[in-house]
Amino acid sequence: MPAGIDEYLVPVKDPVRLSSDEFEAIRSLLERANMAFFIAEPDDRRNKTIPLNIAAQYAMHRLDHNMGADHDGVSELTVRDGQWRGGYIPYTNKPIHWHTDGYYNEEQRKIHGMVLYCVQNALRGGENALLDHEIAYIHLRDTNPDYIRALLHPQAMTIPANVINGREIRPDRAGPVFSVNASGSLHMRYTARTRSVIWRDDALTKEATACLTEFLASDSPYILRAGLEPGQGLICNNVLHDRSGFDEDENHKRLLYRLRYYDRTTV
Ligand SMILES: [Fe+2]
Repeated sequence: MPAGIDEYLVPVKDPVRLSSDEFEAIRSLLERANMAFFIAEPDDRRNKTIPLNIAAQYAMHRLDHNMGADHDGVSELTVRDGQWRGGYIPYTNKPIHWHTDGYYNEEQRKIHGMVLYCVQNALRGGENALLDHEIAYIHLRDTNPDYIRALLHPQAMTIPANVINGREIRPDRAGPVFSVNASGSLHMRYTARTRSVIWRDDALTKEATACLTEFLASDSPYILRAGLEPGQGLICNNVLHDRSGFDEDENHKRLLYRLRYYDRTTV
């Protein structure tokens, strides 16, 4: 596992068409750490082709058209006061707890890959903490292998239905925290939220989640903190992440493109 952010960062000339060296540098980071950063200085950052093409080069094609996304499947994460999106934390300047993306999705729409691309950063804050979910798995297993058994349980974590004005937007979603994909890779479904999440009511599940909470709050060298700069992006296999709150001014209105995929990066 690489140590600092610099070791995860690959400067690229043209993110739409990576050179074979650039491609390989990102590929090997994805293999080792499930995540990589790229930085490019395109003429026009406000261009969704950049993150779409980065993703496509790593065989991510099936975009999740979630509720906040535009018709092209790309979500513009920015502060949306007074719009319906403003009711969802990603579209505010508030901090977001540790999670993996799409933890409320059903089995068939699991999020395996994700790209974030920074068009404009905030004046202050808005950094992400990131942790390879395989490291979280290893930490739990090393602490107590029974924790893994508890978190593999199909009823381990339930997200209650999303009901707005009496209309059910999404039903209850129960599922495991950890699951293994057909290819043998690890998937994690998790939110550190304490509201709107029901954990299986048994002692091991409680202990396991407490152990994970403690690890995520620790100063483990595996937890990376990164503030994306304009032109910088993250490509990952839906690793654990959070976001700090942020402040903006006229020239620093934070705008990130977020793309969620049903595909993992091919490495
Ligand atoms: Fe997220």
